[in-house]
Amino acid sequence: MTSGPLLSIVVPTFRERDNIAALLDRILGVVGDLRWEIVFVDDDSPDGTAAVVRRLAEDDARIRLVHRIHRRGLAGACIEGMLATTAPFVAIMDADLQHDERLIAEMLRALQDEPLDIVIGSRHVGGGSVGAWAESRQLASRVATRLSHFVLKADLKDPMSGFFMLRRELIDEVVRDLSGIGFKILLDIFMSARRPLRFKELPYTFGVRVAGDSKLDSMVATEYILMLLDKTIGRYVPTRFIPFAFIGGLGVFVHMAVLWALFRGLETTFVAGQAVAALVAMTFNFFLNNLFTYRDRRLRGWGLLRGWVSFTLACSVGAVANVGIATYLFHAAPAGGLWWVASAVAGILVGAVWNYAVTAVYTWSPKSPAPARR
Ligand code: GDD
Ligand code: MN
Repeated sequence: MTSGPLLSIVVPTFRERDNIAALLDRILGVVGDLRWEIVFVDDDSPDGTAAVVRRLAEDDARIRLVHRIHRRGLAGACIEGMLATTAPFVAIMDADLQHDERLIAEMLRALQDEPLDIVIGSRHVGGGSVGAWAESRQLASRVATRLSHFVLKADLKDPMSGFFMLRRELIDEVVRDLSGIGFKILLDIFMSARRPLRFKELPYTFGVRVAGDSKLDSMVATEYILMLLDKTIGRYVPTRFIPFAFIGGLGVFVHMAVLWALFRGLETTFVAGQAVAALVAMTFNFFLNNLFTYRDRRLRGWGLLRGWVSFTLACSVGAVANVGIATYLFHAAPAGGLWWVASAVAGILVGAVWNYAVTAVYTWSPKSPAPARR
């Protein structure tokens, strides 16, 4: 009988083939005679990262792999990785050697010796630094950090960190509430805990990526906003409704612009102008929602055409409901003043909720079981 691991290191990977061996070397250099394991969570990287891990695992049972198919997302990968472990202490670490592995022993010691829930590798406490970051990336990180302080009660100096170690109990405590959206799993954990967490930040210098490239892009920024929304108003409204409604608002401008061009510019009849404008606005909304709101269920090829048809049909019904309800209310209580505005808003609201609900089920139906959401 051998005992199970004391520490599990969870490493999310996407296209990190050339970093795996070096990362393992570095970790072997710091774990000493500790009982440890490493769990790679790979989202079916096209570069064959999973195959590299499997090959190395043939010679070492402490190397494990969770291979996810048709899935993407750093936070989600970390969550599944943590759930795949049993160790009382779990660390999250990037595969690209940007996180300083020498912190691992110190993190574990702190968790074992002090009354802490979580220990964080921080670039913003004395002795830490972001290393060789471009000015633009530093600015982006500062903005994101500033934003997080609106929703985060803890005085975390580096809430954007993706390098930390926590007790198993904390995972069990928050896992059902995690949003699982985007990159910022640490922030997600802090916002999902229903009590102030006992944390400690240890300084380190963010390393330079040598092989492969960063997956940080504008989508990650969008997802960050979505995650913050989900953790704040998401308790009351479905998260996707927010971008959906926002895009709907943009659609109104598109509608008006097209109507203006046709009716005023080309002097078509109002009905023709209005009909074409509605179709253009719906098409515009369909594509934007497909890009952003339903990024993870994005329709492609023929699915795109089918999706567009169902979206326009659903939204046409929504428009009829909108006008019908607004008109009914408007006549039901001729209260003067701003009653017409209230009627219009009620119509818009009903229409928007209808459009959202129907297209969520028919246009972007979830194929596989929905990811970490309740
Ligand atoms: N499984 C999986 N799925 N892993 C992913 C995905 C994904 O969709 N996207 C990225 N990863 C992995 C990468 O392979 C890498 O190991 C790690 O997550 C971090 O991704 P990078 O692309 O290297 O991110 P970064 O260096 O820009 O961001 C780092 O800095 C942030 C702080 O500013 C990460 O450490 C973040 O966690 C951290 O918050
Ligand atoms: Mn990186």
